[in-house]
Amino acid sequence: MTTRASVWRKLVTCISSLKFFLTILCLVSTIFVILQISSFQITQCSLSLPPALLTYLKHQPDQTFENKTAYLVEKLRESVTFLPLKDLRFSNKPQEGHTWFMSSLLDNQTRGEAQYQEFPSDSSKGRVLCLKGIDGHDGSWNYYALAWPEALPTNAIFQEGLTFVSYSHWDHGNLWHGLSASVPFVSWSLRNQCERPQKWVLYHRGELRYWMGHWLSEILTATYGEEPQILHFVDEDKPVCFEKAVVMRHNEGGMSRERRLEVFDHLRCKARNYCNITSDEASKPRVGMTLLLRTGARSFKNDSAVINVFKRECERVDGCVLSVAYSNNLTFCEQVELMKKTDVLVSPHGAQLTNLFLMDRNSSVMEFFPKGWLKLAGVGQLVYKWGANWSGMRHEGAWHDPFGETCKFPDTDKRCMSLVYKNAMIGYNETYFGEWARLVLGKVPEHNKLYGSLDVCPQC
Ligand SMILES: *[C@@H]1O[C@H](CO)[C@@H](O)[C@H](O)[C@H]1NC(C)=O
Ligand SMILES: *[C@@H]1O[C@H](CO)[C@@H](O)[C@H](O)[C@H]1NC(C)=O
Ligand SMILES: *[C@@H]1O[C@H](CO)[C@@H](O)[C@H](O)[C@H]1NC(C)=O
Ligand SMILES: *[C@@H]1O[C@H](CO)[C@@H](O)[C@H](O)[C@H]1NC(C)=O
Ligand SMILES: *[C@@H]1O[C@H](CO)[C@@H](O)[C@H](O)[C@H]1NC(C)=O
Ligand SMILES: *[C@@H]1O[C@H](CO)[C@@H](O)[C@H](O)[C@H]1NC(C)=O
Ligand SMILES: *[C@@H]1O[C@H](CO)[C@@H](O)[C@H](O)[C@H]1NC(C)=O
Ligand SMILES: *[C@@H]1O[C@H](CO)[C@@H](O)[C@H](O)[C@H]1NC(C)=O
Repeated sequence: MTTRASVWRKLVTCISSLKFFLTILCLVSTIFVILQISSFQITQCSLSLPPALLTYLKHQPDQTFENKTAYLVEKLRESVTFLPLKDLRFSNKPQEGHTWFMSSLLDNQTRGEAQYQEFPSDSSKGRVLCLKGIDGHDGSWNYYALAWPEALPTNAIFQEGLTFVSYSHWDHGNLWHGLSASVPFVSWSLRNQCERPQKWVLYHRGELRYWMGHWLSEILTATYGEEPQILHFVDEDKPVCFEKAVVMRHNEGGMSRERRLEVFDHLRCKARNYCNITSDEASKPRVGMTLLLRTGARSFKNDSAVINVFKRECERVDGCVLSVAYSNNLTFCEQVELMKKTDVLVSPHGAQLTNLFLMDRNSSVMEFFPKGWLKLAGVGQLVYKWGANWSGMRHEGAWHDPFGETCKFPDTDKRCMSLVYKNAMIGYNETYFGEWARLVLGKVPEHNKLYGSLDVCPQC
């Protein structure tokens, strides 16, 4: 009895739900028909529908687009969005974190490596980098975007091969700043089968630059075996998209000391090969001391007095040879050659000191500053101390001239730096220079140079 009743009940439920289903079906069809009719009316007499919806309905996939892929590619192409290269929202901290350059993108921070970005990559989800704009004065008028290679923006020019995009907060003309901007690229190449760039794109605070300093150009030529080709942007309506791009915006920031040493060893070796400098040890003095002098700003007030002191001290050391040179009239290869035979580099603070990494490892640097720098120049005055450490040299300290022009503002006023001290000249203290030189020269033979006779650069 119970089973028959339950079967009966189930049948009733079933029929009633079928009925319910039919009702719904009927309702849906009615609504559909009504909608069809009203859509006819829309196209014919434009009922009171919102205009936006009308536009949408009119732009539905065209019947001619039977190929859905082509349609979607077109949509992707149109959705590429360019953002200003220099993001003014971060002008109060332009160099921190993601910086104000390409601020929406994050760097790959692999431990010990320079912070960099690579396109296409996993983090760009396979998208390539596109750059647009021709502005040389305001970086917020140049733009960047990411795009899938299959859907590059309309008008885009495709740049084949590898492109290095270098952002500098300083510049690519000065030896030190230019080298700092290039070191991470060389490090990247060393880690990527020595891959070399077809093109370079240079930005200074987002502004395009088509020029780099001669010395920097030479060192890059030596490193990569060909002159750096700087890409020119000519048409502001034609973005350039890169088959492969590597972007650096933190100089050597993030690199471990080992990585830096490796890069400087590589640059030194490449520069010596490029300049055909033989590893003939016989031509090298037992102790080489070099005065690398400047003219104008931050030169010694009395060069001959300074030369005399170091000449005297060098003569006291067996096998010591003193060289005196002016940085402004040496060719690149003359600088490389001079540094090769230098164990003690004596030079005022200035870009010419960037050459220090071209000495054999363990060599010494003696640096000189005009009055006022110690108090007012900030951490910038330490760059060659850092540079010496990063390239395996010994920075033997600095002499700060206690005398000099007086500034009309108090000693601690920043205006004194730009008005008086920055480009002032440097005096001398015969007693101090003499004692210091003796001390440094006395240590040279201990620093047994294992390095120095390299013909074949270790990598690449
Ligand atoms: C569809 O369009 C894409 C892109 O234009 C093209 O590569 C593909 O061959 C097309 N497919 C067909 C079936 O036409
Ligand atoms: C960062 O670089 C490492 C090493 O090249 C790579 O394995 C990793 O995928 C990169 N990460 C991103 C987010 O690109
Ligand atoms: C180095 O030697 C090569 C081959 O002898 C020569 O082509 C090149 O010009 C030389 N380079 C320099 C900087 O002298
Ligand atoms: C430079 O110093 C030397 C002494 O070392 C001195 O004879 C000479 O007069 C000085 N020159 C100037 C221009 O002061
Ligand atoms: C190099 O420059 C110094 C000072 O500017 C000058 O005295 C010297 O003659 C120059 N040497 C050469 C080889 O041009
Ligand atoms: C460089 O600096 C590091 C840490 O500051 C120090 O351990 C190292 O000895 C220095 N190297 C030289 C050659 O001065
Ligand atoms: C020169 O240096 C010596 C040794 O450091 C020092 O005793 C002397 O006071 C200095 N002379 C001047 C004029 O500063
Ligand atoms: C540098 O000098 C130290 C001794 O101060 C020595 O142990 C080391 O081997 C030297 N390095 C090179 C590359 O000559």
